[in-house]
Amino acid sequence: MKITVVGAGAVGASCAEYIAIKNFASEVVLLDIKEGYAEGKAMDLMQTASLNGFDTKITGVTNDYSKTANSDICVITSGIPRKPGMTREELIGINAGIVKSVSSSLIEHSPNTILIVVSNPMDTMTYLVHKTTNLPKSRIIGMGGALDSARFKYRLAEALGAPISDVDGMVIGGHSDKGMVPLTRHATRNSIKVTEFLSEERLEQVKEDTKVGGATLTKLLGTSAWYAPGAAVSGLVQAIACEQQKMFPCSTLLEGEYGLNDLCIGVPVILGKNGIERIVDIELNDAEKAHMIQSAEGVKKTNGLLEL
Ligand code: LAC
Repeated sequence: MKITVVGAGAVGASCAEYIAIKNFASEVVLLDIKEGYAEGKAMDLMQTASLNGFDTKITGVTNDYSKTANSDICVITSGIPRKPGMTREELIGINAGIVKSVSSSLIEHSPNTILIVVSNPMDTMTYLVHKTTNLPKSRIIGMGGALDSARFKYRLAEALGAPISDVDGMVIGGHSDKGMVPLTRHATRNSIKVTEFLSEERLEQVKEDTKVGGATLTKLLGTSAWYAPGAAVSGLVQAIACEQQKMFPCSTLLEGEYGLNDLCIGVPVILGKNGIERIVDIELNDAEKAHMIQSAEGVKKTNGLLEL
């Protein structure tokens, strides 16, 4: 199993690290445009192999896509982070160009690969990859919901005073502050609905804290987070590589599911060896449906800024 991670920044390096530590892949190629950077990160990570007990071979390359040939899974983390004063439109313009060229370079050398898109604005970048590569929809996966759900579980555990292992929950919708739809009605503590333990008011707080999860960290760190994004990607990669048939909320192209069409947005999917094996179309209540429609409108508005 060969996996390529494009972008050796904090998120890309964390992806490579968590994939390696889980020890299911034979090879991880880390690629970056900055001369020597991916090579350095790969060497540093390989020097943790004997300490952390993994056999995955990590190699770093500077912009040489021939070294990524025949990858089973490719993760795209590349892109420019937003700087103070920079508009969202400007960010989309820059990242769209990068994601477009990275995805076509990857496919040129790995025509059968499964692509996982992490670059922001993630749902729009996932849609862009669809529009520019024409790969089957099962092979293009946007990573957002797995991360947002992990943040939701963290906030639920905090509110419940429970260990995170006791808590389950899912966030669907767009990967943005307004777009996330944390499904509080379905969240549980050891199979008991959390609505049994937490007031509506407290759950509302959990929801709000979850939705601004990324922004809270960006404010604290001065840049966007990397540990949880890296761990979330490694979970998706492992589910595909190990043919787990595991369910995650991921951004995928919808064609009527959830009453939505022609956009990529987070919904529960089953991940296995073919990528997205199927979309799970669950019944939402009126409030959740309204939130999902509003979220889709936001994603479509951002998609409208793409030059397709
Ligand atoms: C975040 C970025 C990775 O939410 O989208 O932290």
